[in-house]
Amino acid sequence: MYKIQTLNKIAEKGLDLLPHGQYEIASEFNEPDGIIVRSFKMHEMPFPISLKAIARAGAGVNNIPLERCSEKGIVVFNTPGANANAVKELVLCSMLLASRDVVGGVAWTKSLEAPADQIPALVEQGKANFAGCEIKGKTLGVVGLGAIGALVAKDALALGMNVIGYDPYLSVDGAWELSNDVQKASGLETLLKSADYLTIHVPLLPSTKEMYNAEKFAMMKPGIKIMNFARGELFKEDDLLDALESGQIGAYVTDFPTTKLIHAKGVIPVPHLGASTEESEENCAIWASRQLKNFLESGNIENS
Ligand code: MLT
Repeated sequence: MYKIQTLNKIAEKGLDLLPHGQYEIASEFNEPDGIIVRSFKMHEMPFPISLKAIARAGAGVNNIPLERCSEKGIVVFNTPGANANAVKELVLCSMLLASRDVVGGVAWTKSLEAPADQIPALVEQGKANFAGCEIKGKTLGVVGLGAIGALVAKDALALGMNVIGYDPYLSVDGAWELSNDVQKASGLETLLKSADYLTIHVPLLPSTKEMYNAEKFAMMKPGIKIMNFARGELFKEDDLLDALESGQIGAYVTDFPTTKLIHAKGVIPVPHLGASTEESEENCAIWASRQLKNFLESGNIENS
């Protein structure tokens, strides 16, 4: 009997792939053979000798102590691409929220206290405070053209945007497979200088940590709107707060709110919802369960 520990809520559709007679699944175990985790931070967690594999139901693995895993021979899987569509849809939604003040407008409308027959007139007076701009014809910079970035680029083209992309890790041919209409930036600086909107889809690594700082913000067009559904630590927070305050950054939609960012000017804080759809949670759980099953039963290491 294999023991599988789940450190977060994992969709049943995935766990159902681990047959009952052969697998025991629980949120607490002394000696699990495998772990399925979503965002739980595992850095402080002791790893028992029984543990053979960890499956991350998601893309980013920065919540897993990879060095300790490799020292102990624990195999780590992730499910890149399984939640890409969910993240892409929220990036597109955020780009529109950063352009049209729906968030402010809805809050204001709900706060209206007036007799019913006066509401329509109040709405007509108040709407001038929430006017926005259109995304059609604007330039979207996409940094990172993996599963999510490539989907965002493709659909932004369909919305009438100009799209410029940059990915230091993909060959030029691989990166542009989805559309020839995506312009190829010769470097990050070129992209940052031309974007009206910026979306970032790179992993958090020592080399990418705080790479968006005052120097990079100064290269950008004043008032740029940024969507961060990758990781909060890609941005140097104090520099970001200064750039928001001065208006150099016009809007910052982040899936990784912090105490300082929540109330800062121009910030739309989202509670890490990028991958939170029924479909994406099921996909990730299915991939993760399949990976663990293959590995525990046959020693196969497949990352999809
Ligand atoms: C990811 O890295 O794929 C996301 O952060 C997933 C999640 O919300 O679990």
